[in-house]
Amino acid sequence: MKSVASAPGKVILFGEHFVVYGISALLCSIDKRIIVTSQTTDEKMIKIESDIDHIEMSNNSLSIMNESTPKTMKPFLYIIKKTLERFKKDVGIEVKIESEIPPGIGLGSSSACCVAAAASITALFEKLSREEILKLAIEAERTIFENTSGADCSVCTFGGLMEYDIKNGFKKINSKADFVLVITNSKQTHQTSELVEKVRKFREKNDLSRLGLLMSENQAYLERIGVSTGTLDVFIKEAKKTAYGAKITGAGGGGCIIALTDKSNLNQTLANLRNCGECFTAKIDYRGLL
Ligand code: MEV
Repeated sequence: MKSVASAPGKVILFGEHFVVYGISALLCSIDKRIIVTSQTTDEKMIKIESDIDHIEMSNNSLSIMNESTPKTMKPFLYIIKKTLERFKKDVGIEVKIESEIPPGIGLGSSSACCVAAAASITALFEKLSREEILKLAIEAERTIFENTSGADCSVCTFGGLMEYDIKNGFKKINSKADFVLVITNSKQTHQTSELVEKVRKFREKNDLSRLGLLMSENQAYLERIGVSTGTLDVFIKEAKKTAYGAKITGAGGGGCIIALTDKSNLNQTLANLRNCGECFTAKIDYRGLL
């Protein structure tokens, strides 16, 4: 039995970090995906393979996840353990993760992995609702980032543009906003959980000019709470020469910036940012988990 699921990455248009403390965030999924393929085997071995890590263990060692378990593997092992328990199965599972989203740069690769893995692995036994998959994905993400707001997993599951707050969950925004985000990668990777901890201690629509202005204002707050970096500041300055606005996306401390553009300023913004770092464009993905 084989099962394939994929989930999109994300950018946060407004409200990263503040969302952890109950403020609303506005986010959207992007057209870059994580694809997870799972299959059951008779061998009773758990095998997980991604571009960055791999692990092989007996299925009865699943309950002894500890400090020596590689961090990148914890969410997958959690999902496998919960799934085998839920469906009372004593089989082996092989999982392969393929990614179009570089890890640790604020584009939701970890959440998309949790969502796609939860969908792919549970579907080996039963097709669950998106709500159930989201719940399992958030629990899995908590094995590496205890205080996640759940925003990233929500948008990676349901896709599109959404408002999210911890108390009320997500509300989809029915807009077919026509913008292109130019994403520039500083190649400085980060640990979201560490940056959220740092902040804890510190304690639309079609009007793109206004949206851009608000993004730049949001960036000023993010700089003030210490999650931007010198490299990202340079990207932001360059992006703002032609884009409607620009800000970091995700936890900061490296990762990517996003610059808001449309047909009128996309090419110029791309050309400027290509002089600073690796750039690519992204549009909203409206499909969510597939
Ligand atoms: C990370 O993509 C977004 C943060 O707000 C953390 C979270 O919401 O869980 C920094």
